Order: sequence, then C-alpha cells, then structure tokens
Amino acid sequence: MATDKWAYPQAMWDERYREPEPVYGTRPNSYLEKQSSRFMPAGRIFVPADGYGRNGHWLARQGFAVHTVDLSPVGVERSRKTAREAGLTLTIEQADLSSWNWPAAEFDGVASIFLHLPPELRNKIHPAMLRALKPGGILIIEAFTPEQLQFHSGGPKDASLLYTADLLREDFAGAEVLELEEVKVDIDEGTKHSGLSAVVHGVFRAR
Ligand SMILES: C[S@@+](CC[C@H](N)C(=O)[O-])C[C@H]1O[C@@H](n2cnc3c(N)ncnc32)[C@H](O)[C@@H]1O
Repeated sequence: MATDKWAYPQAMWDERYREPEPVYGTRPNSYLEKQSSRFMPAGRIFVPADGYGRNGHWLARQGFAVHTVDLSPVGVERSRKTAREAGLTLTIEQADLSSWNWPAAEFDGVASIFLHLPPELRNKIHPAMLRALKPGGILIIEAFTPEQLQFHSGGPKDASLLYTADLLREDFAGAEVLELEEVKVDIDEGTKHSGLSAVVHGVFRAR
C-alpha cells in the first residue's frame, strides 16, 4: 500500500473523494474530450489514476473498452457505484501504479489526466504507459506546469511534481510527438480545478 513515498498519500485522495460533490466535476476532462477522436474507435483504452471515474466513464460511453486504475479505494468504490448505476461496463481496478503489473503492447490508447508523480516514480510510470501501448497506440496527457504555482486553480504546490513539455518529451522518448505544448487554459472541472491554469498538453503515438 502506498504510504510515505507519496507527496500526496492515499489518505488525502480518499478524503477528497468522500466529499459529497465530485471535486473534479462530472464532465470528462476537456482536453481528453477534444483529443479522444485520435483513439482507434472501440479500442482498448487504459486510464491511469482515474479517481472516481469521470474520464473512464465518459470513454466507456463513447464505445471504448476501458480499464481504469486508481490508488484510492474510496475513489474506486465511487467509480464502480456510478458505473453500475449508469449501466456502464468497464474494468475499474484499485492499485498503486508504481507496483502494478504493467502489461506490454496491450492497449490502443492511454489517457493520463492530472496524474502528478514524484520524479523517481514518474521516471518509471511514464515509460510503462508507453510500453503498455500497441504500436500505433495513442497516449493523451494533460498536467500542470511549474507556472501553475502562481495560480490558485488547482494542482500540486510542489514544483517537483509539475511537468513541462521538455520533461514529457524525454519521458516518452521513442514515441512520435503529435502534439506537445505548454498553454494557459481556463479550466472548469469541479471545485478543485477551476480558473486560469498553466498546463502541458501532449499527444504521443507509440512506434
Ligand atoms: C488530481 S487526481 C486526478 C483524477 C482523475 N484523473 C481526474 O482527472 O478526475 C490524481 C489521482 O491520481 C491518483 N494516484 C496518485 N498516485 C497514484 C498511484 N501511484 N497509483 C494509482 N493512482 C494514483 C489519485 O488517487 C488521484 O485519484
């Protein structure tokens, strides 16, 4: 079980997901929504760190075969309950991605949305995301950049957990870069992600 190696431990996510209101809203992430047409129709999509499932559920509704993993048992239980109530079929797994048994060449797509990891874990987990893709598979990522520290619209307050375009280019070296840019966007995703934000957007294709 993840404990002190985490800048943000499991208990913090559990507490966040016990709040009655979904803290990141009920809509899917806007960047994922915009870029998801790049995924192979009806393909197998892996959604690491899907919290209470807003992105995984939306992808399942679009006809993808979705597999999500999240560290928080509370988030995962909430995701399973909402999926059940909505009659959605997807695989929702509780696990720590740093010790997960990552498959190779299994998925047509990966959607990593606001998964902020300490460098020593990011260095392992980002390459594992890429290896989990079949050749030609698409990885979509959105994360806050260090510039986000000047805003109060969400994200980690520790610079070592924030990502840049250069850092993602290195993490996903070997993949084809289809889009990679640091931008300022107005996000409107629940109480925890709201307002002008500095983010990096990336789309990579596995070779
Ligand atoms: C900022 S939230 C984003 C949740 C979701 N992607 C969304 O956009 O609604 C970050 C998520 O990462 C998860 N997480 C952090 N470290 C993890 C790990 N090692 N393994 C699995 N999930 C992790 C947390 O439980 C939390 O749900």
